[in-house]
Amino acid sequence: MRVLLTGANGQLGQALMVAKPKPIELIACGRAELDLASPQACSEAVRFYRPDWVLNAGAYTAVDKAESEPELALAVNAGAPAAFAEALAATGGRLLQVSTDFVFNGAQGFPYLPHQAVEPLGIYGISKARGEAAVLELLGPQLSCVLRTSWLYGPI
Ligand SMILES: NC(=O)c1ccc[n+]([C@@H]2O[C@H](COP(=O)([O-])OP(=O)(O)OC[C@H]3O[C@@H](n4cnc5c(N)ncnc54)[C@H](OP(=O)(O)O)[C@@H]3O)[C@@H](O)[C@H]2O)c1
Repeated sequence: MRVLLTGANGQLGQALMVAKPKPIELIACGRAELDLASPQACSEAVRFYRPDWVLNAGAYTAVDKAESEPELALAVNAGAPAAFAEALAATGGRLLQVSTDFVFNGAQGFPYLPHQAVEPLGIYGISKARGEAAVLELLGPQLSCVLRTSWLYGPI
């Protein structure tokens, strides 16, 4: 199985590189190899490598800074997954999109269910919510998985 990993130098990306099971052919891309702000580069990477899966661990994660860089946050967190999904729909691959509880407003006071309506409060959450929606719209639940987490922890 061939897997294209984005955000290879990030917290999650590094942990996935360490955990890589042997049968997987991992194509690890950091910022230098693949600019997630470029939808064309994302599309070309999928068409060139033709991965079975894209694990999109890369993201614009500066929550507060996103308020002053909305275009970049939206390009990376919404544009890149959309470009991956569109290209994968053509090549037949699948996409794991990592997302966040920031797609919700946090006011509920008890755990959210996956299909509850999103209501992000800031640009970071908006950008991640748009990324989720694009992936599910373009690939559907058979060919994509949106994995939301509130926190990452590990040895790195
Ligand atoms: N950390 C958490 O507690 C947490 C909580 C909830 C959800 N998440 C989600 O989990 C996923 C992984 O988060 P993380 O903590 O591993 O994030 P991270 O440590 O900030 O890593 C993100 C990676 O994305 C890369 N990146 C950013 N902009 C890029 C661009 N334009 N082109 C290419 N690469 C770019 C960064 O590259 P550089 O290294 O070059 O900056 C970095 O390596 C994200 O989707 C995030 O939203 C994380």
